[in-house]
Amino acid sequence: MREDVVELSGDEPERLPGGFVNGAVRVGDTVRRSASPSGGFVQDLLRYLEHCQWSGAPRHLGFDDQGREIHTFLGGHVAWEETQPAEVRSDESLAAVARLVRQFHDLTAGSDLAGDQEVVCHNDLSPKNTVYRDLGCGLRPVAFLDWDLAAPGARVHDVAHVCWQYVGLGPRADVTEASRLVRLIADAYDLPARKELIRTILWWQDRCWKGISAAADAGEPAMVRLRALGAVDDVRAAHRWTAEHRLLLEQAML
Ligand SMILES: Nc1ncnc2c1ncn2[C@@H]1O[C@H](COP(=O)(O)OP(=O)(O)O)[C@@H](O)[C@H]1O
Ligand SMILES: [Mg+2]
Repeated sequence: MREDVVELSGDEPERLPGGFVNGAVRVGDTVRRSASPSGGFVQDLLRYLEHCQWSGAPRHLGFDDQGREIHTFLGGHVAWEETQPAEVRSDESLAAVARLVRQFHDLTAGSDLAGDQEVVCHNDLSPKNTVYRDLGCGLRPVAFLDWDLAAPGARVHDVAHVCWQYVGLGPRADVTEASRLVRLIADAYDLPARKELIRTILWWQDRCWKGISAAADAGEPAMVRLRALGAVDDVRAAHRWTAEHRLLLEQAML
């Protein structure tokens, strides 16, 4: 048996909404989810962020007797549903997301975990992986979940993902408002590589629909389900929309 196998609670598991891949369940004050595919990297990262006393990620507590990872359960509002309270989409919350990203980027910059890259990127930042709490002035982001895809990378990668996912860049967006919000995020993060931002959003969108498509073709159950729900078509449409409005979005960065 592994040294870090622990049994923490006899509570009944409760299925958590908002995920597609890991079958996350809540057991008492913990979450159990299938082990990260990147092996020890994510566990090392979560331990490092705990060592830094950064409260924006769950703590890794070990593995249960089914081999699932155990994380601390973070109470609050996870924005996984299509319709969200206005505060979640407010300028203040968007800017706070950008500042929260900046915090863990700065903590990982120059660390062994970042290797020869600028920082460690989360690589899946989105409202459904974000915990919001009312800190006295409405719901604000306080933590990110689902660090499975975390890896060494460039700051602009995560900032671009934030712009795509939290602004909702795609056919349902108004380009003037979207441009304003993309700029707001870049400003709140204080992004150095602004000229690369829109190009990187396009790169993510293109990579995402191709990735879901290829994994669904290979028979990965979660990706087959995602494709059946229209995710490939939706992301392709988002990519086309961003490409069509590229110049306007880029102008907003100047
Ligand atoms: N540590 C946690 N604290 C609170 N809720 C969590 C936690 N981990 C996961 N969840 C909930 O479970 C959902 C799915 O978990 P997630 O880690 O995002 O898996 P998936 O890879 O399947 O998206 C999240 O959207 C969130 O609602
Ligand atoms: Mg998730």
